[in-house]
Amino acid sequence: MKRRSFLRSGVVAGLAGITSPAILAGWGPSPTASPASRPKGVPDPPLRLHHAENPRGLAPAAREAIVNALPGASQYGSSARAEVTRAIAESHAVDVEFIAIGNGSTDTLRQAPQAVGKPGMHLVAADPTYGDIFRYVQPLDARVTRVPLRADYSHDIPAMRRAVAQGGSPALVYICQPNNPTGTLTDPDEIDQWIEEADQENVYFVVDEAFHYYVDDPRYRSADRWVHRRPNVIVARTFSKIYALAGLRLGYGIAHPDTAERMRTLWAGGISHLTAVAALASMEDGDWVRDTMRLKDEAKAITQSVLDELGIEYIPTQTNFLMHRIKGELATHQERMRDHGVLVGRAFPPMEDYNRVGLGLPDSMEYYGQVLHRFRARDWI
Ligand SMILES: Cc1ncc(COP(=O)(O)O)c(C=O)c1O
Repeated sequence: MKRRSFLRSGVVAGLAGITSPAILAGWGPSPTASPASRPKGVPDPPLRLHHAENPRGLAPAAREAIVNALPGASQYGSSARAEVTRAIAESHAVDVEFIAIGNGSTDTLRQAPQAVGKPGMHLVAADPTYGDIFRYVQPLDARVTRVPLRADYSHDIPAMRRAVAQGGSPALVYICQPNNPTGTLTDPDEIDQWIEEADQENVYFVVDEAFHYYVDDPRYRSADRWVHRRPNVIVARTFSKIYALAGLRLGYGIAHPDTAERMRTLWAGGISHLTAVAALASMEDGDWVRDTMRLKDEAKAITQSVLDELGIEYIPTQTNFLMHRIKGELATHQERMRDHGVLVGRAFPPMEDYNRVGLGLPDSMEYYGQVLHRFRARDWI
């Protein structure tokens, strides 16, 4: 495919099923877009490579399910909610008692510390890692220990174990597997061994598997295998990433029934009927998920080959985003990227000499590569 054709064939084609100008406007330009000042050929609206979203948008089956379910949107109650909970439980080979639904896994990360936490508890998490949990332990006045990632960007499990041992109990351990923002996996054997040996009454684990679908390391396995035997393990999953339901909000926790029940009492309300039908349709569309994975692999190969070509260091990723080195200030890099029609990730201190870029559609990543070449010509990267 000709690189120039990316707007026509990819970015716009991703929106092809949607024709309403109002919906397109809502989907489209970020507040940073300023079409008047944008040079020709620069994507407008800008490419959204800053949130690690699914660049394809909703699966066609999900869109159709939403449209068909619209009459139910004005009514209370939704049989689809119970159905989606059953489907989620089945996908983990557990009963529904093990599932606690949330409005996105953000909600699961909020429920988890409140369900198992105690005032003054000790949170141990990696540095850098996904930040929501730090906010959600605040009501518990938790003490926080951030343990730097190892040189290979995996969680430093021995150091985290020491931090728990030294920090007193009870402790809440947050493991992001694979980790955001680095996209790296931690050896599941190390995690399993810790869970196996931990004091079940005083050490709680929240394993955030938001990006599990994208992992291609054969060592990977979910921590959901522990929930039958350990009430101190909560696994968080989301429909925002592979299923592209980020705006519709559906996540869940998998935990021992006693723990899941406590989480359910903390749930503010039901997910919407439309979210439930979209989730069911997306789960059933295996071909669409496989296509998404294929496109992600293609996008990853394109991005990594450009970075290799330019000799830009990057962290090999197990997710749909990756981190690469930049030159100078991250804020300057973000601004220059925005001027070229690309939104890239926020700051992830202390890794501020890196940029996190989401993997968009392959042709978007071709364009991203062209921009990097342009930056290199100006000695910006
Ligand atoms: C690691 C991780 N966990 C959880 C979330 C929350 O996602 P959501 O609330 O959309 O499920 C995100 C969002 O980017 C994430 O990166």
